[in-house]
Amino acid sequence: MTEAARKPVTLPTLRRMKAKGEKITMVTAYDATFARMIDEAGADILLVGDSLGMVVQGRDTTLPVTVDEVIYHCRAVARGTRRAHVVGDMPFLSHQISPEEALRNAGRFLSEGGAHSVKLEGGVTAAPTIRRLVEAGIPVMGHVGLTPQSVHAMGGFRVQGKTQEAADRVLADALAVAEAGAFALVLEGIPSDLAAEVSAALPIPTIGIGAGPDCDGQVLVCYDLLGLTPDLKPRFVKRYAELFEAGKEAVATYCEEVRSGAFPSEEHGFGTVKRPAVRAVPNPPHQDDRRPLFGSYGPSA
Ligand code: KIV
Repeated sequence: MTEAARKPVTLPTLRRMKAKGEKITMVTAYDATFARMIDEAGADILLVGDSLGMVVQGRDTTLPVTVDEVIYHCRAVARGTRRAHVVGDMPFLSHQISPEEALRNAGRFLSEGGAHSVKLEGGVTAAPTIRRLVEAGIPVMGHVGLTPQSVHAMGGFRVQGKTQEAADRVLADALAVAEAGAFALVLEGIPSDLAAEVSAALPIPTIGIGAGPDCDGQVLVCYDLLGLTPDLKPRFVKRYAELFEAGKEAVATYCEEVRSGAFPSEEHGFGTVKRPAVRAVPNPPHQDDRRPLFGSYGPSA
């Protein structure tokens, strides 16, 4: 990577990338080690997604995730990141109640979590909240189309915008988010031609997931990208590694070697040091009935 490419990614960087037609890469991260790996690999944006509820906490939806939990993971990700722009995802009910409550919560992602911006789900109805946050100096990434926090209202994790009427709604949502001042927009689970149309219509970058190749950038959940979710193979995911299987094999080998005595070998220990033998400590008179504290460590002289 060149020195220029190692410069921190800021909002002007992302604007320039859209203008030049350079694709933006975004990956989720939830801890410092993954953040470091993804950042060093060159991803432009790290999203501390509320998807952590599913891949880290093992839940069926993102709905139970709390502000405190996302902030906890933001802090870890921020510590592991040098170059990428870090986005904290606002969980269910942290931004829907009122713009003022959203502002109070969003501020914590920056001041306590070390995030550079926040993401929130919603279109036309979320616009006043986005405007309030942007006015207060908090950069906002929008998220329309399939919005997982509305899973029950959508009747499941379903592709959105399939009819003309539904496609018009997605476009209206996207325009409202951009007009409210968002710096970028996630397009999730919509037909590719609709995503292309929205991307061409908006002045801000679109980041697609299950939205085809014509968005200004792409995002994947790191556990999906790395093959850490063995039971989930959504069509929009491409696995670039099979780390669940590789990790399982590595742990099985470790267990075998511990059981057989092959691990630890000489090289994993600290050798032996000649020192005087440890003598048993005599019991104090009032503790005669107790076993000697250190007496079991070695033969007495
Ligand atoms: O929570 C998340 O990981 C997300 C992405 C899938 C965009 O919202």
